[in-house]
Amino acid sequence: MLIAVLNGPNLNLLGTREPELYGTTSLSELEAMLRAEAKRLEVTLEWTQTNHEGEFVDAVQGLRGRADGALVNAAAFTHTSLAIRDAFLAVKVPFVEVHLSNIFAREPERRHSRLADLAVGVVAGFGPAGYLLALQALVGRLRGS
Ligand code: DQA
Repeated sequence: MLIAVLNGPNLNLLGTREPELYGTTSLSELEAMLRAEAKRLEVTLEWTQTNHEGEFVDAVQGLRGRADGALVNAAAFTHTSLAIRDAFLAVKVPFVEVHLSNIFAREPERRHSRLADLAVGVVAGFGPAGYLLALQALVGRLRGS
């Protein structure tokens, strides 16, 4: 089973970026944690991060016929991008939307997601642990357990 993890803009700065909101774990530390969990669950993980909307769209399009599911933290694109929404509508790959912070408890412009209604589920507010929870939940759903 192949699970892709798509990370959006500014997540490359995790660990030093607004640590009071996003914590002190770096993106590469988060990747290592998730890879360990993927190994335990016996799934293959593909990890990407981009600061560019078009590259994010390309990454979503690239899931078709290849990935069984995805974890998606589209970061600020979550709240703005019809192009990324359209890409998910086109590829129909099941995904879990993940946010480190609880976007529903933040500024009004962050409380709406253009992806959430297409997702299998949303995990927000648990920091890096949210990625682990999302992976466990998605793999469980795909295995029908
Ligand atoms: C985020 C929340 C977004 O509103 C923000 O733009 C991010 C990170 C999160 O993981 O909490 O960059 O997706």
